[in-house]
Amino acid sequence: MNDVLPQETAVWQYFEKTVKQVLDAYGYGEIRMPIVEQTQLFKRSIGEVTDIVEKEMYTFEDRNGESLTLRPEGTASCVRAAEEHGMLFNQTQRLWYQGPMFRYEKPQKGRYRQFHQIGVEAFGMAGADLDAEVIALSARLWKSLGLIDHVTLELNSLGSQEARAAYRQLLIDYLSAHLDQLDEDSKRRLHSNPLRVLDSKDPSTQEVLKNAPMLQDHLDDESKQHFAELTAMLEAQGIRYVINPRLVRGLDYYNRTVFEWTTNALGAQGTVCAGGRYDGLVAQLGGKATPGAGFAMGVERLILLLETLELVPVSERETLDVYVAAEHKGLQPQVLAMSEQLRDALPEIRIRSHFAGLKNIGSKARMAGSKLTLLIKSRDDELTATLWQGDTPQELAINQVVDAVATALKG
Ligand code: HAM
Repeated sequence: MNDVLPQETAVWQYFEKTVKQVLDAYGYGEIRMPIVEQTQLFKRSIGEVTDIVEKEMYTFEDRNGESLTLRPEGTASCVRAAEEHGMLFNQTQRLWYQGPMFRYEKPQKGRYRQFHQIGVEAFGMAGADLDAEVIALSARLWKSLGLIDHVTLELNSLGSQEARAAYRQLLIDYLSAHLDQLDEDSKRRLHSNPLRVLDSKDPSTQEVLKNAPMLQDHLDDESKQHFAELTAMLEAQGIRYVINPRLVRGLDYYNRTVFEWTTNALGAQGTVCAGGRYDGLVAQLGGKATPGAGFAMGVERLILLLETLELVPVSERETLDVYVAAEHKGLQPQVLAMSEQLRDALPEIRIRSHFAGLKNIGSKARMAGSKLTLLIKSRDDELTATLWQGDTPQELAINQVVDAVATALKG
């Protein structure tokens, strides 16, 4: 679980601002859910035999003996909230959320126990046009951030619940015949969650999987049609994808479309955004059957990617416009007065006043990442000032300062 320091929060804010602009462009409304939910909600939605529920949840009893869990993801809470507030009956919804999620995983680069997601969930739309829209939304975001050439869209279809159940049995039969070659995790999951065996990284299991029946060959006709419509719409929008028949996702609620945006630039934790369709989830959690689809992106991973590829614009790192200091101690009261005067005249600019020792003010201003440095001086009992923009000084009478600052920042 990490602290995010002011230098980094500037990058987070740039990222969040860019995401928000794109979400607005698609008419999504923000929903804010609690960080804690009843444990049952996650067990019933994510699935009992998943890594998240088996090993990764922060679960505790409150004073009433009720079992609560720090949310490991947002989809379950979003469905719970939308249902609870009557937002799903006979209507469509496009919702987004952001915030911390908690998973007891082995921490490493790009994988944390408290991490942040920005997610979208859309309800009441069963067609492939919605799947195409949520993917187009994410693609537009990568374009805005300069990331589009550094990420790959992986797509798959899991078919209907029924087609999956039939395929599941075929897979169990096939894998049972090769039991001795499977790794321990895969053996354990063989009967409870055999689809998860498909993304086992174990070499011996992978060897067995080479000849395993493929889900693609057992999809129902409607799901095939849905997938064909989706890929046609992506192609029409110029969104490139690769079909990954092994992509099954680590949460149980998906059907039909699943997708992940991945990158090679981050090492092992290369999935920066993932999601899909979950048409059965609302009913499974007690609501009236309502189709849904969405995705969530890992904010830390995307920020790491922006930093690694040096894609954060320099101006977004500058958290200050003006650093105000005095030439000598006697002028110190003028620092506060001038800073306040600037705030009155130019309320949108960011000003930091120098109240500490007067050594190395230039380098202190540079360290603060300020666009301008204003040094207040006195000459022949007159107050004057020097305004530094980079290495270029400009000498000013005190009453010229506000205009000079405004002009310098406009340029
Ligand atoms: P997920 O694949 O579990 O899906 O997580 C989505 C993204 O969150 C991942 O692709 C990754 O970028 C990030 N993430 C997950 N775990 C960690 C971690 N320990 N540290 C850092 N980043 C992490 C879901 O959570 C689904 N609720 C997505 C969804 C929304 N599907 C439909 N709607």
